[in-house]
Amino acid sequence: MAQNASYGLLKSSIGKKVFMALTGLFLCLFLVGHLAGNLQLFISGQPGQIQFNKYAEFMTTNPAVKILSYVTYFSILFHVFDGLALTLKNRKARPQRYHYKKDSANSIWSSRNMGVLGTVILVFIVLHMSNFWFKMHFGDIGVDAEGRKDLYTVVAASFEQLWYVAIYAISMVAIGFHLWHGFASGFQSLGLNHSAYTPLIQGFGKVFAVVVPLGFAIIPIYMYLT
Ligand code: HEM
Repeated sequence: MAQNASYGLLKSSIGKKVFMALTGLFLCLFLVGHLAGNLQLFISGQPGQIQFNKYAEFMTTNPAVKILSYVTYFSILFHVFDGLALTLKNRKARPQRYHYKKDSANSIWSSRNMGVLGTVILVFIVLHMSNFWFKMHFGDIGVDAEGRKDLYTVVAASFEQLWYVAIYAISMVAIGFHLWHGFASGFQSLGLNHSAYTPLIQGFGKVFAVVVPLGFAIIPIYMYLT
């Protein structure tokens, strides 16, 4: 009975929105942690290489981090599949698309294009993980002076290519727009509405949507230029 109820919740639009919000907000936390770790790429030369490789080794071997990694993979998959289901359902419910002007009067561009933005981000994540993550876990990438897998050199070599840097910069714009609507919308889907706190959450969400993608975008640009 209880199992049926929770299955029903998962399948309903409201249930989907709640789980999308939970996974989306968890992924926001992931982004903060990931950005903080990646800031070590600003340390140049061999000290930077050694430090980043130490960090990458810790992140792939520490049992607590491993559990968080699995939660991250699950959240990405769940967020993608439910996002797709919700987008298709909304399209079906509203087959004739409103006139552009009418649409834009009612909502901002990013909120109407979460599915498209999400798809660009998904393509980015597949490309990103097939390069860095796959090579770290399964690739034969050589070792640094201290004998650790040399992920730093893989990252540095990737960001020597302008097209690769451009893909990162463009993808971060998509992430920025996705977060611009998604961050505060996540809180709303969880029913966390409050006359005093909601404007604060909305404001913080917008700062988050600019600062975090900008932080990610600056890293490949910096590595390309130095
Ligand atoms: C400057 C930008 C970025 C750099 C340099 C970077 C670097 C890396 C590296 C080196 C790894 C492999 C680490 C490992 O397996 O231990 C990794 C994994 C990953 N990255 Fe990024 N990343 C960037 C931006 C992003 C963004 C914006 C996202 C999400 C939208 C993202 C999502 C992921 C995910 C999901 C993993 C797998 C994490 C895990 O196994 O726990 N990355 N990244």
